[in-house]
Amino acid sequence: MTGHKVTSEVLVERDADRSRKVDSTDGSSSNNAVSAFLFEYPAHMRKSRSENGPLEYDEDGDLVLERNKKGTILIEHSISTELKLVGLQIWRGALLLGDYIISHPQVFRDKVVLELGSGVGFDSIIASAFAKEVVCTDVDIGGILKLIEKNFERNRQLVNAKVTVTELNFLDPNWNATLKTKIGKVDVIMAADVIYDDKITDGFVKSLARLLDLSGGCQTYVALEKRYVFTISDLDSVAPMYEEFLRCIERHKLNWSIQEVKLDFPQYFDYERLSQMILMKIEKC
Ligand SMILES: C[S@@+](CC[C@H](N)C(=O)[O-])C[C@H]1O[C@@H](n2cnc3c(N)ncnc32)[C@H](O)[C@@H]1O
Repeated sequence: MTGHKVTSEVLVERDADRSRKVDSTDGSSSNNAVSAFLFEYPAHMRKSRSENGPLEYDEDGDLVLERNKKGTILIEHSISTELKLVGLQIWRGALLLGDYIISHPQVFRDKVVLELGSGVGFDSIIASAFAKEVVCTDVDIGGILKLIEKNFERNRQLVNAKVTVTELNFLDPNWNATLKTKIGKVDVIMAADVIYDDKITDGFVKSLARLLDLSGGCQTYVALEKRYVFTISDLDSVAPMYEEFLRCIERHKLNWSIQEVKLDFPQYFDYERLSQMILMKIEKC
């Protein structure tokens, strides 16, 4: 029996624009598509002409100027999934975090970066352009870790870091040996759109608390979309999952400083940056 299916808003928006769909998966899943996420290279990501080799021309024979250079991230993803497999799609939080990474390379450059609940691997791929090492994790269901590996392979021209894809399940405290060897070295932790279910949120908070204890003083960036609903009991609109996230931190008596990062950095990817999207910087006090 299959359950109710969901489709990410990112994919609904993109569906209207067929030009950004590249339909060549390797045929391993008929519910998959490959989408191109285009962005314009900021100055700090452009290589000098001598590093790039010969001059490049576009299909009309015009010289491709470095300042106009477009980048593409190719992502294989599912088109719709059951709730437990939402990681096979890409969500708005990943695009917001992607914008942050590209516009703040100094936070990631030469660092060891750990991503939690990576989904299709979008942000880990971007971070791997700057970082020394990227550890990209998710729960190992529905072939998600294999999909991440395939997406890294599709974008290998961007990747400069050593990359490890491995499981970190928020609901299982028995971490694998690969993960355990990496934790002590992590400088930056990041996660996008992992706060959407009470049980997973509790597991995420507990996992993050443990990681912050073990890694000692690393910075954490968490992107999320506050999804407001109107409740009769509160006679108000509330963002239940965001509020549950804050309650979890209180319940587990965690002494964290949470700062909202100002969303005044450039938008490189094409999505609607809604006012309810936030990026938090979390540090252990
Ligand atoms: C809404 S998706 C976001 C995916 C991706 N970060 C993005 O923004 O596109 C939620 C992510 O949390 C992951 N997740 C769900 N349960 C988890 C668990 N128990 N442990 C670790 N990750 C989990 C999902 O597999 C999925 O990748």
